[in-house]
Amino acid sequence: MRTVVLLLIMGIVDLSISQRYSQFQWLSHLRGRRWHASWQAEEVDCPLECDCPSTFPTAMYCHSRNLQHVPYVPSHIKYVYLQRNQITGIQDGVFDNATNLVWVVLFHNQLNSDKIGKNVFSKLKNLDRLLLDHNELTRVPSNLPKSITDLRLGHNEISKILPNSFDGMADLTTLQLQANVIEDVGGVFKGLKSLTMLDMRKNKLRKIPDNLPEQLQQLYLEFNSIESVPVGFLTMYPKLQFVRLAHNKLTDRGLPSSVFNISTLVELDLSFNKLEKIPVVSRNLENLYLQANKIKEFSLRSFCSTIDMTNFSKLRMLRLDANEISARDIPAEAAYCLRRVAFIDV
Ligand SMILES: *[C@@H]1O[C@H](CO)[C@@H](O)[C@H](O)[C@H]1NC(C)=O
Ligand SMILES: *[C@@H]1O[C@H](CO)[C@@H](O)[C@H](O)[C@H]1NC(C)=O
Ligand SMILES: *[C@@H]1O[C@H](CO)[C@@H](O)[C@H](O)[C@H]1NC(C)=O
Repeated sequence: MRTVVLLLIMGIVDLSISQRYSQFQWLSHLRGRRWHASWQAEEVDCPLECDCPSTFPTAMYCHSRNLQHVPYVPSHIKYVYLQRNQITGIQDGVFDNATNLVWVVLFHNQLNSDKIGKNVFSKLKNLDRLLLDHNELTRVPSNLPKSITDLRLGHNEISKILPNSFDGMADLTTLQLQANVIEDVGGVFKGLKSLTMLDMRKNKLRKIPDNLPEQLQQLYLEFNSIESVPVGFLTMYPKLQFVRLAHNKLTDRGLPSSVFNISTLVELDLSFNKLEKIPVVSRNLENLYLQANKIKEFSLRSFCSTIDMTNFSKLRMLRLDANEISARDIPAEAAYCLRRVAFIDV
């Protein structure tokens, strides 16, 4: 089992040695392998461009070797590693015999949406992970299998998400769309019943997406152009624990009163915005990032509505540096309310 796990990890992490084969080195490696194979009693069904180690017979390693196309994938393969090549397109049919595929790893290629067949992935009924980050995609590939739990589309050029892109993907738990050019998503995430993590950092969102999935626990929206948070936003998504809105355009006016006073929230990142006040947060909040805003006063009531010996905030991390307050603005009573904060950064 340990070898299996190690091989899986090696395939995905890319050891730097395998990453930088020069063309020549790679060719001689291929020749050596073919020579070696001819001495073996049974031929392994494996395309010449790839490695299919007998110690892990369901994996096919084709990463970091200047490939420009997806080689034929034999039917017994479950894990295919094609990352760090120069693949620009995928024709319908290349995966058709490999219906047992569980992982398809294609990050760091040059995939172009117009060169990906409409049904390339549609027959892969067991597909669990599809890693397509760091490519040149302008659209979410169509007809994605409903079995996928981890879909990575970050660092592409996606601008628009069609309404049915994620239809029926009830098992999807992680969706990465960071570093694209998405302005609006409509209600495209609504049916994602199992989604717990949505990463939309570095896009062009002007508002928080509507109709987020109810199970969502982690919402990452840093580096967008969001100006406000809807009234009752967190009461609509009671499972949310981590909300990151740093590097946006939030102002006090854009935050309804008590919108963050929700006892389920664990971490709230509002750093690098334009807030002038400390928003009211729940006593259960543990990490609050407010650095690089325009905060002018330290309001202890934002953390504790009453101040007594037994009733205090669970906050551990509080960052207020790069604002318009100094240590002198923090009242002595803060020591009762914020007793778990070791050090307030101002
Ligand atoms: C798929 O499998 C069938 C039966 O094993 C085989 O005849 C065919 O050549 C395979 N297709 C491809 C594209 O290799
Ligand atoms: C925050 O919510 C708690 C629990 O619902 C409530 O007791 C408290 O008064 C609220 N704080 C403010 C300032 O609204
Ligand atoms: C904290 O104070 C509020 C209001 O005074 C009270 O309702 C609540 O029970 C107190 N919580 C604890 C843990 O003592």
